[in-house]
Amino acid sequence: MQDGMLDLPESTPIPTTLLTEHALEATDRVIDVQAVTRTYKLGAVEVPALQGVSLAVERGEFVAIMGASGSGKSTLMNILGCLDRPTSGHYYLDGEDVSQMNKDQLAGVRSRRIGFVFQSFNLLPRMSALKNVMLPLAYDHGQRNGHGPSHEERAREALERVGLGERLHHRPNELSGGQQQRVAIARALIQAPPLVLADEPTGNLDSKAGEEIMAILSRLNDEGATVVLVTHEPNIAAHTRRVVHMHDGRIVSDEVQS
Ligand SMILES: Nc1ncnc2c1ncn2[C@@H]1O[C@H](COP(=O)(O)OP(=O)(O)OP(=O)(O)O)[C@@H](O)[C@H]1O
Ligand SMILES: [Mg+2]
Repeated sequence: MQDGMLDLPESTPIPTTLLTEHALEATDRVIDVQAVTRTYKLGAVEVPALQGVSLAVERGEFVAIMGASGSGKSTLMNILGCLDRPTSGHYYLDGEDVSQMNKDQLAGVRSRRIGFVFQSFNLLPRMSALKNVMLPLAYDHGQRNGHGPSHEERAREALERVGLGERLHHRPNELSGGQQQRVAIARALIQAPPLVLADEPTGNLDSKAGEEIMAILSRLNDEGATVVLVTHEPNIAAHTRRVVHMHDGRIVSDEVQS
């Protein structure tokens, strides 16, 4: 018997409709956040940054999260990106409850399934673009046994995809803000994560560089990635198909754009 195949006797009829429905349910919802709260404790002070957020995102969606400063957008993104855990409630990523996982398990989920792009790029200043993009592969324990492209070839390819094939050996301070953000995107993409999260990826960029970043994210989405991004700018949100508004740690509207 091949690995992963069900050992069912020939005579057992498989209820295909049930199987299909179950499979769709189990696989099509990438993000399923249920009644999540996150309270930061600062000494005796409690900051209720998320006060009961529920959000479902299907595979292949392109979602913008908007809302005033302090409304909880980054707190939510950090939970979606498995960088933080909810105080209460559940977060199912690809059907798996990640709210209860420990730090090591979360790190594993992050490296396999999520590409995270930050407003501040988070590049290592002493490393070239190429080395920065290769970083996530250092944690990649997938056995390649010398087959397939090397880490460096994959990094070069990722940089070429974001239009930086000519800037492989530049360090971050030798790149423009928009180019630095594209390096950060290439780094987020190197593992081809099914879920791309971007917290104000255009916040530090002029409008032209911002449009280039959005073009890259849109292309990724066209290729099948689920993309969730935070933005303050309506013209950036206009690139997406669905806009979620937050206020005081809650989702106050959730609209599909025509
Ligand atoms: N590490 C922390 N410790 C304590 N309070 C925090 C922490 N991080 C965020 N907060 C508080 O939680 C609330 C939500 O913050 P969050 O960063 O999620 O807002 P945001 O919507 O991303 O805002 P911005 O648009 O300014 O980035 C704010 O009131 C903030 O002061
Ligand atoms: Mg924020």
